[in-house]
Amino acid sequence: MATLSKDQAHFLLLKIHSLTGIVPIGVFLVFHLAINSLRTVGPLQYQLSIDFINNLPFLFGIEVLFIYIPLLIHSLMGFYVVFSGKPNVLRYPYARNWLYTLQRLTGGVVFVFLVYHMGTTVVPKIMEGKTLFAAAPFLIDILNQEFQTWTGRIIYLVGIFSATFHFSNGLWAFCISWGIIIGQTAQRNAGVLFTLVGIVLTLLGFATVMEFSFHPIPVTPTVEG
Ligand code: HEM
Repeated sequence: MATLSKDQAHFLLLKIHSLTGIVPIGVFLVFHLAINSLRTVGPLQYQLSIDFINNLPFLFGIEVLFIYIPLLIHSLMGFYVVFSGKPNVLRYPYARNWLYTLQRLTGGVVFVFLVYHMGTTVVPKIMEGKTLFAAAPFLIDILNQEFQTWTGRIIYLVGIFSATFHFSNGLWAFCISWGIIIGQTAQRNAGVLFTLVGIVLTLLGFATVMEFSFHPIPVTPTVEG
């Protein structure tokens, strides 16, 4: 049986790392920010979206398979890439080098943010056994409280910006490394397009934070029981 050389194994690791950042993690981030922004439409619309998610069959299995395991793989490989490479921003002060350094930095910030964010939402939800229609009021109550302090708001604003930057800049790097966009003009145009994607996602997230902060509306379960 053919075995991989050290260089081939390294190459494969980088490819898996780059792919997991887009599918499923990037896809999750886009949906997550879009669904949460329903809070700007109204508390009921938002509550129904959380109800929908928490009434899905095999929810925990879906989350483990499509969110938690890919996140863990992507994070561990990300730390490996960071600690095995050398940032060259000081020797070559060009925009792309700075973006590359920021890519690594925001990856670390998102990791810390996720420990906080999941530790204050999903973990207590599971520990308290809040399933089905009981999950939404429980989670909305937590979010209402988190957004009543500037510390809470700043943690979310920094977490959202880091995640959207990391994703949109990562999208550009992904397209180059997988040979999807070749040629300088195409790469420049893609850079503009992905910057717009990043701005739209950031605005969605920031609008949600503002809505929670200035209109913390408590809710009761859609269906009692
Ligand atoms: C306005 C900003 C955000 C709000 C209001 C928000 C809200 C929530 C809520 C309510 C949950 C629990 C879902 C459930 O168990 O039903 C959750 C889970 C989660 N959030 Fe966020 N989130 C926000 C931003 C982010 C960002 C920027 C990221 C990525 C860095 C993120 C990643 C996650 C992950 C990975 C989970 C666990 C997935 C799951 O178990 O379903 N969130 N979020």
